[in-house]
Amino acid sequence: MPYYSDELIEQVRSANDIVNVISDYVRLQKKGSTHFGLCPFHNEKTPSFSVSQGKQMYYCFGCGAGGNVITFLMQYENYTFQEALQALAQRAGIELPKQEMSEGARREADRRARILEVNKAAAKYFYAQLRMEQGQNALQYFVKRGLAPETLKKFGLGYANKFSDDLYRYLRQQGYEDELLKDSGLVTIDEQRGGRDKFWNRVMYPIMDVNNRVIGFGGRVMGEGEPKYLNSPETMVFDKSRNLYGLNFARSTRKHYILLCEGYMDVIALHQAGFDNAVASLGTSFTPGHASLLKRYTKEVYCTFDSDGAGVKAALRAIPLLKEAGITAKIVKMKPYKDPDEFIKAKGADAYQKCIDRAQNSFLFEIEVLEQEYDLRDPESKTAFYNAVARRILEFEEELERNNYIEAVAEKYQTGFENLRNLVRHHGTRAGLTRESRPLKSGISEKKKKEDGMKQSQKLMLTWLIEEPRLFEQISPYLGPEDFTEELYRRAAELVFSQYQEGRLNPAGIVSMFTEEEQQREIAALFNARLKEVVTPAEKEKALWETVIRLKENSIGYRSKHLQPSDMEGLQKLIADKKGLQKLRGQKHV
Ligand code: UTP
Ligand code: MN
Repeated sequence: MPYYSDELIEQVRSANDIVNVISDYVRLQKKGSTHFGLCPFHNEKTPSFSVSQGKQMYYCFGCGAGGNVITFLMQYENYTFQEALQALAQRAGIELPKQEMSEGARREADRRARILEVNKAAAKYFYAQLRMEQGQNALQYFVKRGLAPETLKKFGLGYANKFSDDLYRYLRQQGYEDELLKDSGLVTIDEQRGGRDKFWNRVMYPIMDVNNRVIGFGGRVMGEGEPKYLNSPETMVFDKSRNLYGLNFARSTRKHYILLCEGYMDVIALHQAGFDNAVASLGTSFTPGHASLLKRYTKEVYCTFDSDGAGVKAALRAIPLLKEAGITAKIVKMKPYKDPDEFIKAKGADAYQKCIDRAQNSFLFEIEVLEQEYDLRDPESKTAFYNAVARRILEFEEELERNNYIEAVAEKYQTGFENLRNLVRHHGTRAGLTRESRPLKSGISEKKKKEDGMKQSQKLMLTWLIEEPRLFEQISPYLGPEDFTEELYRRAAELVFSQYQEGRLNPAGIVSMFTEEEQQREIAALFNARLKEVVTPAEKEKALWETVIRLKENSIGYRSKHLQPSDMEGLQKLIADKKGLQKLRGQKHV
């Protein structure tokens, strides 16, 4: 991953005016000092998406999306920080320096680049074969499966013909040496017979990474035959557990969820039918690597797996992995059709959209599968089933969430809400789970409320400071960055205070000192906090000093709790701060 200096990042950022860049994506209207438009990150009818030319930041008051111009491209185009920076540098005509690499790293990078080159040459070769005399059968195969010419082109589909060494000979002719071809996985080198192609007489599906580079291939027999699909082996550029078929297209969907399918053909059929958010794993089962890859692009995944037992098993495997990664999973049901490809062929895109709209909650799906292990007509088995369900429900940490699931299950199986809730409680106390008891629960939420309030005060203060720099003079005798007890807020406060002292306040520059999109979004929220209803200047003044005092109280409390007994300096500062706080209270009458 290339590394760029803070100065360079700042140069690129400031060379791209945020209103200018965002106007390429969102229709903006100027209202006062701020531009407003419909938020591209959630569905809305009235504009709550704001872009501030002064701050060079955007923020959505509806969904909380926000950041600087770099964040915007990361969010909108799903770029990494580096990719966004590269795009903006190009836009502004700034040349980014090439990265210095160690000898070993360079050799490896060269090797990877050459394998990618070989893959690309092979993809082109297969693509051309499909359009030649010898490719007519293969072309007919695709046509019979309902693929339009544009679809063949979009996915770069091709044909590996019947000769078992023609690709090898072609690539040799292009100047690629045996060693490299072997590493690409496209060819095996036999002592006696020489180079042999891995794929022959198959229709070919090039597999692309998110940057549209061909990293491997799947090849299918036309008609019956074993194995149905042959896939490239893992190579230096092909990691099956970290790539997904179709993600190069799905990454820029405007839909808020991803469709996860099992097969290459499902992905292709879905895209052809207008579902530009479909992906599939690469002939392997779903992995944690896939889940964290998806997390970069979405918070919600709809599993649209085969309707058979294998599909159910695949879903049961994927659901917990998705959950673990913080993704909500839903299950799309297509029975009696086998998979999305068959469904769409039979019923069309609108009917498939209805399946999506009706998709099942993943927990209820799991319960439905569990149910099949029991005979609900038999009282004993039925009791065992409900007990099993109750134990599963206990896995939800929030009481509200548990109640919602109790309600859903009770309704589905007509058990009665109270009955099922009692059973869940029973299992809860048996397992010694004190979290069932009310007082503790509400105690936790009290504490949480207080924390949220404190966060909000810290946010407000930072927003005020950057919007009205004159406040620094009034406030800095009482408040410093160390009074922001949230780790991320304190880092932001340190930067804000030091920028102010150097006379170059630059909030958008602070955002890009954080390379994670999540952090950038939080910083943007920090600089865009709003009091619910501030009216008169006097009220605002009052709110300001109240906030200063709250922050100070909180910080004093926090520091006394964490003070090391030997830290004399810290103790003295604490005592001084306490005195200062008392004086401030007296002055401001709050
Ligand atoms: P399917 O058998 O459901 O394939 O396997 P499909 O994509 O629906 O293909 P069609 O419609 O029969 O042409 C799902 C996925 O499992 C992998 C492939 O990635 C395939 O897309 N697979 C399947 C293999 O890798 N090898 C096989 O022999 C079969
Ligand atoms: Mn299929």
